[in-house]
Amino acid sequence: EEASPYPLVSTCLRVLIANLEKLCPERPDGTLCLPEHWIFPQEVAEQFLQLLTWQGKLTDKTASIFQGNQTNLKLVNIQRVKISATAFINCFCHHKLLEVDATSVHSDLPLPDIIHGLCSSSWIQQNLRCLVLDSASVPHNSGLLAFGQLTGLRILSVPNVCFYSEDLANVSQLPSLENLDISNTQITNISALLTCKDRLKSLTMHYLKCLTMTKSQIFAVLKELKCLLHLDISGHRQLGSDLGFYFLQQKDILPNIVSLDISGSRYINDIDVEEFIQQRPALRFVGLLATDAGYSDFFTRRRGLKVAGGANISQIAEALSQYRKRSCYMKESLYKLFTETFSVRVTMPAILKLVAVGMRNHPLDLAVQFTASACALNLMRQGLARGVPVRLLSEITCLLFKALRNFPSYQQLQKNCLLSLTNSRILMEVPFDRFSATRFVLGWLYRHENPKVQTMVVSIISTLALQLSREQVTQLHEDLFMAVKELLEIVKRKTAENSDDTTLLFSLKALWNLTDESPATCRHFMENQGLEIFIHVLETFPEYTVQSKVLGLLNNIAEVPELTSRLMTKDVVKHVSALLHSKHMEVSYFAAGVIAHLMCDKQPWPLGAFQRTAVLQDLHAAIQKWPSSRCKMSALLTYRSFKAFFPLLGNFSEPAAQQWALWAVYHVCSRNL
Ligand SMILES: *[C@@H]1O[C@H](CO)[C@@H](O)[C@H](O)[C@H]1NC(C)=O
Ligand SMILES: *[C@@H]1O[C@H](CO)[C@@H](O)[C@H](O)[C@H]1NC(C)=O
Ligand SMILES: *[C@@H]1O[C@H](CO)[C@@H](O)[C@H](O)[C@H]1NC(C)=O
Ligand SMILES: *[C@@H]1O[C@H](CO)[C@@H](O)[C@H](O)[C@H]1NC(C)=O
Ligand SMILES: *[C@@H]1O[C@H](CO)[C@@H](O)[C@H](O)[C@H]1NC(C)=O
Ligand SMILES: *[C@@H]1O[C@H](CO)[C@@H](O)[C@H](O)[C@H]1NC(C)=O
Repeated sequence: EEASPYPLVSTCLRVLIANLEKLCPERPDGTLCLPEHWIFPQEVAEQFLQLLTWQGKLTDKTASIFQGNQTNLKLVNIQRVKISATAFINCFCHHKLLEVDATSVHSDLPLPDIIHGLCSSSWIQQNLRCLVLDSASVPHNSGLLAFGQLTGLRILSVPNVCFYSEDLANVSQLPSLENLDISNTQITNISALLTCKDRLKSLTMHYLKCLTMTKSQIFAVLKELKCLLHLDISGHRQLGSDLGFYFLQQKDILPNIVSLDISGSRYINDIDVEEFIQQRPALRFVGLLATDAGYSDFFTRRRGLKVAGGANISQIAEALSQYRKRSCYMKESLYKLFTETFSVRVTMPAILKLVAVGMRNHPLDLAVQFTASACALNLMRQGLARGVPVRLLSEITCLLFKALRNFPSYQQLQKNCLLSLTNSRILMEVPFDRFSATRFVLGWLYRHENPKVQTMVVSIISTLALQLSREQVTQLHEDLFMAVKELLEIVKRKTAENSDDTTLLFSLKALWNLTDESPATCRHFMENQGLEIFIHVLETFPEYTVQSKVLGLLNNIAEVPELTSRLMTKDVVKHVSALLHSKHMEVSYFAAGVIAHLMCDKQPWPLGAFQRTAVLQDLHAAIQKWPSSRCKMSALLTYRSFKAFFPLLGNFSEPAAQQWALWAVYHVCSRNL
């Protein structure tokens, strides 16, 4: 799925959402509506709502698009959104809803208001099948929650909600209830479940911390649940309980069970689990994360049994998938995944996808975000990223940046983010917000970190710089000025130390790319003694890798009309003329470019007439010696446009300069296709 392009419907909806304010008229009260005559059928309306929610753009203003009869919803998914109770009622409760997922909605929309809204429609009261309200807020003194009125409910999920035994007693009377999740609620007594013992198929009661019943009382209730196929009695990761251990000793309990979760339970061992499973042939799933079980061969041999655990990568993947909403197990699974993938050699996009899900579901959990970022790095190391679909890489990168915004002062998370950007596939091919990324990386440049980090930062900037649009460069110009100064400092220091290491090369590359078609940056370069520093670089390092970058940058300066004449110094002309004869094509090419620009400048040649003619002849001779302009150069020339060549092409008094420009245009056209 991730490897294919977005479906057309989804692409259209994305465009609509990106231009919502333009396309959707405003009502007098400031809310939005669909243009007249637009009708969204159910699937489209649901996808639209889902995308709005997913992109964090569902607000009272946008939700109002779902008012009236132009859209049609059966499923409403508003996880983690912030809308008011009024908006919820006005925008959603007139639809014929079958399923509502309001996991972790903001406390502006408390649980009693959700139920009240839903009950305002008698159709919904009778027909709503599924209600998911994980972590919804319940104000003090709300009294009995009115779930009892939603008589069509088959699935009710209220984990992490203030939900008491009295509420359970009421809910148990629902005539169709089959699937109930009451994890981490205030329930003290589950006897009420006996009311629905002939209907309940699935019971999730992870970490029922307030239970006052004895184990045998609990088991007595569970034994009566004749239809139960799924049972989750897992404990909290840190506060493990022994309920699971004693449950396994119950010989005759739930003989037809299909799925059992006892993760996070104390004293669990392989022998007990094996014995339990052997007596229950229908069992297809067992949750054993954060226990000492799941390691024996039995689990590998047993066909058709899925294990969520920590013993091997398939168990971890199962755990990540099973516990996507449970942060304590998400952490545990990610931690195991990190150790398991430390030196992994195969691409595992499916597991990376689960990491993304975990990050998305727990945006404010630092441990989840941090461990997930470390796992992501393991799973997308240089070679591995090649096998991961771009869309998934993009999702991960965006989630990493979101984590940065949520935890701005957590250095190690930032470092993981930075490391992910050193991945060339991500940096070159993956869509993400390059503007914010540049800001973030520049922040690290000014921080004067250790040399390793500095090299990383400079290398990322050198690539990112080229990918910014003109407007973005303009918007960033103050940051970029600081960057130019900082990079020049590095170049100066490296030159003084006579060390042409990767940091120097990346800094030169970054400066070259930052000055590309950016007169303001070029000017800034000159104002900060850039020219002097670069001459010094040429004098210190005779390597062509250095020379080509220096000359590439001097070309950028020469292209700025008001700066061209400032290159007409003895030093520049001396070095550039000499390099014209370099045996390295790109060095010679860039040297020729600088000279061509100098020749066409309107300013008089300050270095004497004889020299000018000599240099011109030299230029002509050098170009004559070049191979065909279809030749390969090791540095791929990248031009945003051919604008820089226009002044040269129009100047018929300098044929050698014209020749250079033509050679270049022809080269770019024949190589960059
Ligand atoms: C939709 O609602 C508008 C006004 O709210 C009404 O005029 C129109 O007849 C309704 N259309 C349908 C198909 O019910
Ligand atoms: C359960 O709640 C419904 C609606 O709030 C109410 O009508 C019913 O009497 C309640 N039942 C019990 C046993 O509290
Ligand atoms: C649980 O509730 C049942 C039924 O109301 C009651 O008989 C039992 O004593 C209660 N158990 C405890 C431990 O409170
Ligand atoms: C991991 O364990 C599961 C059972 O728990 C087994 O089916 C699977 O083959 C194991 N995978 C590996 C890679 O060992
Ligand atoms: C940017 O730097 C790279 C690597 O040195 C080089 O190949 C490329 O041509 C540069 N692009 C521009 C526009 O300066
Ligand atoms: C062409 O170059 C010469 C310098 O060699 C300059 O004087 C002249 O103004 C240029 N012409 C144009 C059209 O740029």
